[in-house]
Amino acid sequence: MKIDTFELERNQSLYENSVEINLTESGVEPMTLAELLSPEELDALLNLRLGYNYTEGTPELRAAIASWYPDTGIDEVLVTTGAAEANFLMCWALLEPGDTFAGMLPNFMQMQGLASALGARVQPFGLRLDGNAWRLDRAALDAAVAEGARVIAVCNPNNPTGAVLDEADMDALVHAARACDAWLLCDEIYRGAEIDGRPETQSFRGRYAKTIVTSSTSKSIAHAGLRIGWAVAPAALVTEAVRRQDYTTIGTGPINQYLASVVLSPARRAQLLTRSRAILGRNMEIIDAWVARWNGRLRYVRPSAGGMVFVAYDFPVNSTQLSERIRAEQSVFVVAGDWFGMDGHLRIGTGGHAQELEEGLRRIDRVLAAL
Ligand SMILES: Cc1ncc(COP(=O)(O)O)c(C=O)c1O
Repeated sequence: MKIDTFELERNQSLYENSVEINLTESGVEPMTLAELLSPEELDALLNLRLGYNYTEGTPELRAAIASWYPDTGIDEVLVTTGAAEANFLMCWALLEPGDTFAGMLPNFMQMQGLASALGARVQPFGLRLDGNAWRLDRAALDAAVAEGARVIAVCNPNNPTGAVLDEADMDALVHAARACDAWLLCDEIYRGAEIDGRPETQSFRGRYAKTIVTSSTSKSIAHAGLRIGWAVAPAALVTEAVRRQDYTTIGTGPINQYLASVVLSPARRAQLLTRSRAILGRNMEIIDAWVARWNGRLRYVRPSAGGMVFVAYDFPVNSTQLSERIRAEQSVFVVAGDWFGMDGHLRIGTGGHAQELEEGLRRIDRVLAAL
């Protein structure tokens, strides 16, 4: 089976640890174990037995995840290695050659790459700029599913724009899925990382029987290193995905499952989300001031959620070349719009340390000023 290079992940893996300032992260700065754990939790961690444990996730962890969704039982939750494995298992379980996969753009591109490798017909539909807001392009959605679809995939809040769908657009997606009996596969990894005091993004879970939600501890929950994700789906589909997980990772480790059940317990989850929103809000002020200094040569639609801002630039340079130049000359790493299928943009992470962000932007200024 041939598969396209996953540009964003490949580039991140190559350079994120070798640059002085990495601004490609879209999650929030993690905590250390020492900061995170109470003495009792540390003791529990030290006394864990390092066997296979529950391959589908401990009942405690599945219950903590289920509590973030309406009317969800633990048999509807599968714990995976990041949202990446959840997305993989669901695409693999659902798509056959010739099926239509209708996927929202711009996008992180994991599911698009997988769907195409699995032989599906990938039909894009976009978010489009409506004044100063990203909205669902309903005409494009209708065109994408005109001949039916097996899967309609969305990322809400969206990566890279940080846009959150409004109720009417969510309804339109549910309507489109119901009309062709498609699965609605919703990557909600940025839910909970809202900025500007916006309420928590509504989940698609509970709006339509054939909904699958994927997510993880990596972004709003701020702990990507746990590599714990999940899929929430009807129990029969979870059973099918578990059967396939026997062929991928067999399951996640007990240390990570335990720590994930700590960070996802309702009270701790609420604390961590409050912390994430505070960090993102503070860093957005830095971004606002930076963009304003460029007098219109940089522009962005204010993200509603997520640890990133998608900045359009008015300089005659391709985004991959610009990202490479900033990295080579200034040891700062930012994501090229190209890697989302949208040249003319850079995605800049807003979930890290303020001083690092400020220094990174100062260095980017030097490259832009020389263009
Ligand atoms: C939209 C989206 N989905 C999934 C992932 C993968 O996340 P995880 O670290 O949970 O595997 C990412 C990571 O950047 C992402 O942006």
